[in-house]
Amino acid sequence: MASNGIDRYGVMGFPVSHSRSPIIHRLFALQTGQDLQYELLQVAPDKLESSIRQFQSTGGKGLNITLPHKTEVLRLVDDMSERARSAGAINTLSFDDDGIHGDNTDGIGLMRDLTTNLGLQLGGANILVLGAGGATRGILEPLLDAKPVAITIANRTLSRASDLVDRFSTAGPVNACRFDEVSDSYDLVINATSAGVKGETPPYPEAAIGQQTCCYDMSYGLTPTPFNEWAVSQRAAKSIMGWGMLVEQAAESFYIWRGVRPDTAAVLKQLSVNAL
Ligand code: ATR
Repeated sequence: MASNGIDRYGVMGFPVSHSRSPIIHRLFALQTGQDLQYELLQVAPDKLESSIRQFQSTGGKGLNITLPHKTEVLRLVDDMSERARSAGAINTLSFDDDGIHGDNTDGIGLMRDLTTNLGLQLGGANILVLGAGGATRGILEPLLDAKPVAITIANRTLSRASDLVDRFSTAGPVNACRFDEVSDSYDLVINATSAGVKGETPPYPEAAIGQQTCCYDMSYGLTPTPFNEWAVSQRAAKSIMGWGMLVEQAAESFYIWRGVRPDTAAVLKQLSVNAL
């Protein structure tokens, strides 16, 4: 609790000034009548542990953890959810008398956006995931749970994609290749690389795009991402930015903290963002 008696939450990252989490959580709080404050906390990697401990000891109730701290924080929690363990990353901390609890809401955030908001049928779908870093690791298990025909992970560095296949092959059909080895079209192509964020446009596999293909970028911006522009140029059926995932993962964190589920559609509308 803050000195003013209001429960404190926040997002820790480095840098973090671009984060939309404060506005999203304030909209959730307003909508659900919850009294809380949510802060933007810029914390350098060498200050992560001390900043979390200080937040906890001064009555903080919960934190979102964003880049680059999502894996480092694994060693600081007292326990974590299965989905955080599978993702190998934590984006949500809750504090109570039993200690620090870690969770990861990114995977369910993506799934809610794909299935509930966008109405995609993932059972029986052929899915291509571009990239084999932390973002991919966080979504593989929930995607496999939806029973697609298969998930192919295409990555610039094949060995990283193969490592993920080794890790997740017991959860469902998953295989690895390089971008230039993609030869079939897919129902869904998810961009989980960090290329766009760095202003880079790698040679995304053109063969992946058919007339029915939905392209989804886990990144988002005020203008279409390079991947979304590429998808439009390849005549993909749909080209969508990850705003919905952002709002849905935030809603799941809010639910963990407050036990109340916000109406995400209303907040997405308030953010005035639409699919291309
Ligand atoms: P994150 O946690 O965001 O996934 P990461 O672990 O650094 O970050 O992974 C970034 C992913 O984006 C990797 O799959 C990376 O490919 P490599 O494994 O070959 O490095 C991919 N990526 C980043 N920039 C890229 C680029 N310019 N072209 C192709 N892939 C890129």
